[in-house]
Amino acid sequence: MELSEYGIGEGISEVIATTQSEEGEPNAAPIGIINREGYFVRLYKGSKTLSNVLKTHKIAANVSNDAVLFVISAFKNLSREHFTRFQGFPVLRDADAWVIFKCEPASSGEDFFEFKLKVQAAKVNRKGVRAINRGLNAIIEATILATRLKVNENDTKEGQKQRILRKIAYYEGIVEKCGGEREKEAMKILKMFVMR
Ligand SMILES: Cc1cc2nc3c(=O)[nH]c(=O)nc-3n(C[C@H](O)[C@H](O)[C@H](O)COP(=O)(O)O)c2cc1C
Repeated sequence: MELSEYGIGEGISEVIATTQSEEGEPNAAPIGIINREGYFVRLYKGSKTLSNVLKTHKIAANVSNDAVLFVISAFKNLSREHFTRFQGFPVLRDADAWVIFKCEPASSGEDFFEFKLKVQAAKVNRKGVRAINRGLNAIIEATILATRLKVNENDTKEGQKQRILRKIAYYEGIVEKCGGEREKEAMKILKMFVMR
């Protein structure tokens, strides 16, 4: 099932994943949904999300652009009032879209487990949604840097220029890892401008 209409596109879509413990206690944390000929999540050891998924085999992707929810849920759990239930599973009340997945073990490494995701239920709450994509964010940041480089072309000191180019190279790595075709194409064009 294609999930672009639920805000989950190419590359890695950053969403807030909700899960529940065996006792039904909800948890939220930012997680990347990997679109790689099917949908996957890679969960690093030590997280509540992983321990919940290992026990309940379910995860919900909450598509949101709310930076505050991302930050809070990355460091601690969200309070009860942020949660509601969709098809009996905890999701975030304010999310733009929800996708509930069944998780099947796919592979593992020293410090992670990867799961293949099978869509069980999905709902759009707000139209025109898009999950945060670090590739797109990186393009925005790299473009701002590139325009600074251009604006100050004559008086950008060599050291400063090298620092900016290193930052752009850093963002390029993120686009490579997380971006879709459009972001990768944009980075190519941006580099042509920077190198000219
Ligand atoms: C944008 C973003 C994306 C993240 N993606 C993942 C991921 O794909 N897998 C993972 O294990 N942790 C990921 N993390 C880190 C977890 O959110 C973090 O370890 C969190 O504290 C786990 O919370 P939990 O213990 O409540 O599950 C991500 C963090 C951010 C900010």
